Amino acid sequence: MWVILAASLVGSILCYLRFDNLRLWYASSSLLCLSSFSIVLATGSLDSKYFLLLYLALLVTSLKGKIWLTLTFCAISSFTTYLLSGRGLAIFSDVASLTELTLLPFFTIIAFFVNSAINKPVSELEKRKDERVEEAYAIARYQVAEKEESEIQFFDRQRKLYSLLQLFQKLSKERSSKVVEDSVVYFAREEVKSQVSFVAFNEDGKWRTPRFLGISEVMAKTISQKIEAGIFQKVISSGEIINYKNVEYHTQGKVTTEKKPFDSNSMSLRNLLVVPLQDASGNKPFGVLAVANKLIGAQYDKTDIDYLSLLATEAAITLSNMKLYSKLERSYYETILALAQAIEAKDPYTHGHVSRVEQLSVFICKCIGLDPDSTELIAKAAILHDVGKISIPDSILMKASALTDEEFEIMKTHTSNARNILNNITSLPASVVDIVVHHHERYDGRGYPDRLQGRAIPLGSQIIAVADSFDAMVTDRPYRRGLSFEEAIDRLERGNGTQFSPYIVEKFLQNIGDVEDINALPHYYDC
Ligand SMILES: [Fe+2]
Repeated sequence: MWVILAASLVGSILCYLRFDNLRLWYASSSLLCLSSFSIVLATGSLDSKYFLLLYLALLVTSLKGKIWLTLTFCAISSFTTYLLSGRGLAIFSDVASLTELTLLPFFTIIAFFVNSAINKPVSELEKRKDERVEEAYAIARYQVAEKEESEIQFFDRQRKLYSLLQLFQKLSKERSSKVVEDSVVYFAREEVKSQVSFVAFNEDGKWRTPRFLGISEVMAKTISQKIEAGIFQKVISSGEIINYKNVEYHTQGKVTTEKKPFDSNSMSLRNLLVVPLQDASGNKPFGVLAVANKLIGAQYDKTDIDYLSLLATEAAITLSNMKLYSKLERSYYETILALAQAIEAKDPYTHGHVSRVEQLSVFICKCIGLDPDSTELIAKAAILHDVGKISIPDSILMKASALTDEEFEIMKTHTSNARNILNNITSLPASVVDIVVHHHERYDGRGYPDRLQGRAIPLGSQIIAVADSFDAMVTDRPYRRGLSFEEAIDRLERGNGTQFSPYIVEKFLQNIGDVEDINALPHYYDC
């Protein structure tokens, strides 16, 4: 019994030295209870002195814990003693010495005060330690949050720049100003997180707002009237960016604070960011790009301004280039038209031939479902198809009778002459020159100038060959009258697969029956 008790006490002391708080309590109390149970099992009873010693040992170990640990221990042990006493203290071998157990409350009170004295400074230290740890955690949490926020902003800027880059690539290939305006307005609204976005142009002092998002047409007009003469005019006059926190304050001297749910018919502008549309030429801005009613935050920040400025600059450059390109195109078209008309004027019998060949070629392009860009190229080639005739002597060009073989050989040179003339026009696509040069090739390979055969002949040349021949057949010449539509169709069918492409002839004949007058067909630029 003494051995068990000694081992229990040693174990308890080791627990006291080794562990702390709850683990100490669990370990020591388990050990002592086990030893008590072992003693009772071995001897059938427990000496109250031993019980007292066990109690003291356990009480001492609890001192290392918090006060509640000591109190809990006291409560449990007192309750246990009470229960044991209730059973007539049969468990204790010497009932007489039970009076010693009355010391238990006394020891408990002493332990309570000792624990309070020991734990109070420890608690204050722990409290200060906890506060410092909490403070360190708070700082760490703030730093992590700050880092996360800056990372989010960084990735958001990266994403925006990437989307801008993609937009710029798309715009650089775009030919339609409507698509450019739509894209810019869409990106402005989405990336600057706004309810409203719009683009407005100043043309000869008059404002035009062709594209807007987030508002109705009626509202767009109202808003434009309200701000274009003042705010927009100020932006294009000064070239500066305007960033208003409250539009009403700047237009009517009052502050609007209402934040209505989105309603495109009744909403008003709160905050507004307007940037000028100015190209790289240094000319005065020709319009503005604007966003209004920021979805997050009260006012547009520097990131919003940078993004919208970048977008506006790219849009301005693209739109200016498109304007210049359009002017160049028109000028180029007028030049080649004048050239073709000059050749045509030399031979009154072919009056209108160039125009009709262009109309018929465009008609065939539609019959075979060709795309607009290819149709445009073929239309240009059709206008220019006989430009090489400018170098053919008038005696051959305007001969009223059929040409001799020698004269025909000279006439055939108009195709290669066309290459020399058109190659000097650098802005003319090479494919147009090819189509012009090969418009007298035959599908069976017996044409000129290069005796190309079948699909080796450019599609545009195959189309112009049919259009050119059909118009020549149905119009009067000095040495013969023009054929009827039916006779011309018969000739085309006879030349199908030898002179002409079977596919083109098939599609042409399927649709030409509905055409009564070639001159009534639309030109490409009328389509
Ligand atoms: Fe020709």
